[in-house]
Amino acid sequence: MELKDAIEKRRTVRDFQNIKVPFGIVEYAIENGFKAPSHNHLREWNFIIVNSMEIKLNLLDSENLEKVRNIQEFEKIFENEEISKKEMYLDAIPKQKTMILSAPLIVIVVFKPKTKVEKAKNVYDLNCLASVWTCIENFLLSLAENDVYGVTYIPQNPEMLRIKLGIPSELEIASIIPIGYKSNFAKDLKQKEIDITKQMHFEKW
Ligand SMILES: Cc1cc2nc3c(=O)[nH]c(=O)nc-3n(C[C@H](O)[C@H](O)[C@H](O)COP(=O)(O)O)c2cc1C
Repeated sequence: MELKDAIEKRRTVRDFQNIKVPFGIVEYAIENGFKAPSHNHLREWNFIIVNSMEIKLNLLDSENLEKVRNIQEFEKIFENEEISKKEMYLDAIPKQKTMILSAPLIVIVVFKPKTKVEKAKNVYDLNCLASVWTCIENFLLSLAENDVYGVTYIPQNPEMLRIKLGIPSELEIASIIPIGYKSNFAKDLKQKEIDITKQMHFEKW
């Protein structure tokens, strides 16, 4: 597949088919993840592949995703938002729990921070986070090449999760990524249209 095709295909998916993802596809995507650039040349990244309902329930618990949210409340919050953003949030918010439960696999991406995120003072201190996200993009593109998709969820209680999953204290969680084949019922959310001529600046802003 051409790079451009994989880039076009990759989209966030939150509704999955009840079909197993062959481990070879995940391994291929991780292998390509490790070809990404990294700030210190060391690519200090790890992937935890979760299959069991017990761990998925642990994820919901530490993220407090059991709480039922009121969609009308969100309709109000996003009422004046740009339409593509509003549509995305209204589709995504109710699925934060089901996407974890229904995904055949969850991949948790762990990285070694240069500076602990809470101690970072500038963008440079976050090089480790930037690096791991280049890895995540390679991972997602490689999954898309095989018609497997994911959603990058960022934990809000990483400390609790780190302990539950036995992740060493010097490491941090970049993202929890439920992955699987796209359900036929998944909504086709449009990406916001960008006029790149307005986003490019030559010589100076
Ligand atoms: C850093 C980051 C954090 C995100 N967090 C969430 C999240 O917590 N829950 C979710 O459903 N989607 C999350 N997303 C997915 C975005 O909503 C999605 O990428 C965006 O709407 C654009 O859609 P696309 O990926 O299909 O182009 C996140 C994406 C990024 C890059």
